[in-house]
Amino acid sequence: MSADYIRLSEHINEAKDLTSLGEAFVNCLNGGTSEEERKQLLELIKEKIKQLKKTDKELLATSRKSMHSEQLAAMGQMAAAISHELKNPLSGIRVAADYLIRKVKNQPDVLDIINNINNEVAFANSIIANILEHAKVTKPDFQPTNLKQLIEEAILTVAQHGWFNNIEIKKNIPNNLPRVELDKIQIRQVFMNLFINSAEAMVGGGVLEIGISQEAQTVQIQIGDTGVGIEEEKLEKIFEPFFSTKVKGIGLGLAITKEIIEKHDGEIEVKSKPTKGAIFIIELPISRKNSKENG
Ligand SMILES: Nc1ncnc2c1ncn2[C@@H]1O[C@H](COP(=O)(O)OP(=O)(O)O)[C@@H](O)[C@H]1O
Ligand SMILES: [Mg+2]
Repeated sequence: MSADYIRLSEHINEAKDLTSLGEAFVNCLNGGTSEEERKQLLELIKEKIKQLKKTDKELLATSRKSMHSEQLAAMGQMAAAISHELKNPLSGIRVAADYLIRKVKNQPDVLDIINNINNEVAFANSIIANILEHAKVTKPDFQPTNLKQLIEEAILTVAQHGWFNNIEIKKNIPNNLPRVELDKIQIRQVFMNLFINSAEAMVGGGVLEIGISQEAQTVQIQIGDTGVGIEEEKLEKIFEPFFSTKVKGIGLGLAITKEIIEKHDGEIEVKSKPTKGAIFIIELPISRKNSKENG
């Protein structure tokens, strides 16, 4: 049995534990238990959430060491299945905590604890949402696409979420680009992953520069920022699943990005130096006829 498998089964046990905790919670609420018992339950739940976070971190650490991108799909499915399992017990805790908030309105110390629980549940949920969202890369649905428009859409979506608040965006995109055969949803995801990474690398503000140039049979897309940059020894790791230098990072954005680009028979590379920003360069075949797969 592999170490990964053992870690995964711990996760599943965790989900079962959480379910019984949730049930205990509901029983407690129905049975009108004493305040002491309620406090004990709250403590138990806090403890469980701590454990859940710890197991999650451990799983990420183990995975980081042993995963390669070929395993991404299988890993993604498992992660998605586990995440899915964890959703119900977490929402059980959430419902019970919300009920308790109404019950203990005039006990600020208890309210603090319950609010903590809710914050931790929200954090666990955000991890799950992220894993589910990124877990799977399907076969691209190639459609002739206006790349300029697709980039505008991605910029808009990211901006609407407040990522570009103190970031200047410079675009150098020719108007006469040919339509590029690509999967709109996947490539939009690629742009969003890269834009958000850039925004996260420029917390105090900066410039995001997006340029497209056309070769005979390919387009080259450059996305550059003036952010913190990447140390040399990390450059080769950033595309690995679960590699992240961020406190709340999952480390799947670039792994998925690379997989999407490869499914399009394209290439992605990065150039960066610490404190000097980063440039991601993507090359995509314009037409399927010219792609490596078909040509
Ligand atoms: N534009 C960028 N500038 C600096 N570092 C970056 C940039 N994009 C990615 N990185 C590095 O690559 C890591 C992996 O990125 P990603 O796969 O998107 O995961 P996450 O964003 O969850 O950390 C980041 O944690 C960061 O260290
Ligand atoms: Mg990211």
